[in-house]
Amino acid sequence: MVDHYPADSRETLRAFVIGTPIRHSRSPMIHSHWLKAFGIDGDYAAIEILEPDFERFMAALKNEGRYRGGNVTIPHKERAFKLADRPDALAEELGAANTLWLEDGLVKATNTDGYGFTANLDQRHPGWDRVSRAVVLGAGGASRAIIQSVRDRGIGEIHVVNRTVARAQELADRFGIRVHAHPIEALPEVMAQAGLFVNTTSLGMEGEGRLDIDFSVMAPQAVVTDIVYVPLETPILAEARQQGFATVDGLGMLLHQAVPGFERWFGRRPEVDETLRDLIVRDMEH
Ligand code: ATR
Repeated sequence: MVDHYPADSRETLRAFVIGTPIRHSRSPMIHSHWLKAFGIDGDYAAIEILEPDFERFMAALKNEGRYRGGNVTIPHKERAFKLADRPDALAEELGAANTLWLEDGLVKATNTDGYGFTANLDQRHPGWDRVSRAVVLGAGGASRAIIQSVRDRGIGEIHVVNRTVARAQELADRFGIRVHAHPIEALPEVMAQAGLFVNTTSLGMEGEGRLDIDFSVMAPQAVVTDIVYVPLETPILAEARQQGFATVDGLGMLLHQAVPGFERWFGRRPEVDETLRDLIVRDMEH
């Protein structure tokens, strides 16, 4: 249930993003854009919180009533989950939360990264989920949320490929029989006939080394996506596009993951449209 606030409310509605480092976060730009678009008297602030101060911040959030809630980013997502009064089932399964809100005097928590991932694909490539095999490269925190969301969309087989196989195995164990772990050498084999390829590693970023991937073994209608969005077209996406595959960049995941939080704190459900996308792209160019 989302609260809707009366238009004549005089209280400025406040939310935050906390993390460290936080000054490069684009979340304030996203939420400020939506606040302005709706004409809501609200404020969304980036707050630098170091690890030793996190617990105190969580206590103040609950006791002081200054904020409706906020986002949590690196390195606090796991502790946000642990310290929240009521994490939901998504956060519980991931052991991490990125969105907090106050409700009935309690700090509630969820994780919207997986939602952001699937909502971006839904918007940019509808039908992406009508596939039976997905390959996820990487086994960190982002990978975890993506595997959860892809599994929840009913994709039959998910193959997690990672340099450190033990981390991929941990995710396979966590998510059950339809999720399988592999070393990087197994990529060509597990990519055969796959309909979705997701890069969740920093290999997509400039200056982070590269991996030559032969996408040609994938199903012809396959979609390739990357969660890295700087540059927008990562080397992995460029390669896939040159090989004739549909690609979806990672910027939309960042934009869409912000939607559920905004709706909780400010009472309106915002759109992820080209105006917002262009705003962030222009900012990235500076
Ligand atoms: P995040 O929370 O953003 O997912 P992370 O937990 O640091 O970040 O995970 C980064 C992922 O990128 C991991 O899967 C990592 O592989 P390892 O588990 O083997 O460390 C992967 N990664 C980073 N640099 C890599 C590289 N040069 N080659 C291959 N994989 C790399």
